[in-house]
Amino acid sequence: MDERRRIALLYGGKSGEHEVSLQSATSILRNIDLDRNSVVLIGIEKSGMWRLQSDDWIERVRTSDVTVTIDSDRPRVFAIPAAGLHVDDGTHIPVDAVFPVLHGTFGEDGTVQGYLECGDLAYVGAGVAGSSIGFDKALSKSLWMQAGLPCVPFVSYEVPPNGPTGNWLTEIEEQTRLAFGPTAIFVKPARGGSSVGVTRAESSAELADAVRHAARFDSKLVIEPEIKAREVECSVTGNSSPQAWAIGEIVPRHGFYDYRAKYIDEDGAALIVPAQLDHEVSITIRETAVRAYRAVDCHGLARVDLFLDDGAGEIMLNEINTIPGFTRISMFPVLCRELGLSYPELIDAVIDLAIEQKARIDSLEYEYPAEGSE
Ligand SMILES: Nc1ncnc2c1ncn2[C@@H]1O[C@H](COP(=O)(O)OP(=O)(O)O)[C@@H](O)[C@H]1O
Ligand SMILES: [Mg+2]
Repeated sequence: MDERRRIALLYGGKSGEHEVSLQSATSILRNIDLDRNSVVLIGIEKSGMWRLQSDDWIERVRTSDVTVTIDSDRPRVFAIPAAGLHVDDGTHIPVDAVFPVLHGTFGEDGTVQGYLECGDLAYVGAGVAGSSIGFDKALSKSLWMQAGLPCVPFVSYEVPPNGPTGNWLTEIEEQTRLAFGPTAIFVKPARGGSSVGVTRAESSAELADAVRHAARFDSKLVIEPEIKAREVECSVTGNSSPQAWAIGEIVPRHGFYDYRAKYIDEDGAALIVPAQLDHEVSITIRETAVRAYRAVDCHGLARVDLFLDDGAGEIMLNEINTIPGFTRISMFPVLCRELGLSYPELIDAVIDLAIEQKARIDSLEYEYPAEGSE
């Protein structure tokens, strides 16, 4: 009998980061310990449709440098409330845990997490609340401020239903200047990733353009003053007692760490691991990362991104990513490996955490005892 854990790798997704997910999934498939785990592949098309993929991918990905894709003529898959994953002919797909390696919308934002939760499935990463708060730059920063954690100041606006137009834009500019003065400004979609829709603006014309641009990607915006500081990132894993791993630094070569620097221009940014930091500073960053993780109710794993102003000796939280880029050479796994946790061990560790978290949820009571029965 196959005693291995059966893991559903859920990848692709209805997200601008669909292709990034294919890379992460390929890397997991190539490196997961197949003595401990067996894998079933479920690809989510850009339309949002779930499809069971052929097991042949496992051999192909592990013996060549091919990237996994999604075959759309395969059977559909869905989760049935309280009954797990099924193929559309009714066949049950028994799994011990789902690994949603989905970046961005409909994957990292709590929607898929809620769906899996209804299906009574264990899954890797943050739950519904942690995912949706972590994905929303305004909500996460609000909770960090409430927890007394240092973070980038911001204002947030809901874009009117008729779009970002005349009076509303003028008002936004006035309020932004009132809040932050005549400094350069960053405008971003509140819920996005991969720097999509993020623009730096100086003049009022640039600010209006930046707001209009961000509003194409989300109905809620976050506006911040430019922080002139080093960009550092810290991996955190765990459920009730999270642990911070090493700290890395991003050094963008031109301007800021935009989409181009992340995925197109190979020399767009240098990733330095470990970041060169004073011992005291690195302790503060790691402690802050763990507190930030807890404050937004994270479980499993997350990468916490911060700014570090060496001169002022100040750190500020920027954002948290609950399903960070997860290829073998992505920052998250590299920071874990730096402190001794290899990539295959990390994959096993986050699956263990998923199963632990599910057992915790299952141990809770969901009914009041009938009167007089206790
Ligand atoms: N307030 C800011 N000051 C300076 N640079 C910023 C600021 N906000 C974002 N950036 C730059 O833009 C990049 C992308 O912004 P970020 O908030 O991390 O969004 P995303 O979720 O798309 O990664 C950051 O990595 C950083 O280089
Ligand atoms: Mg970022």
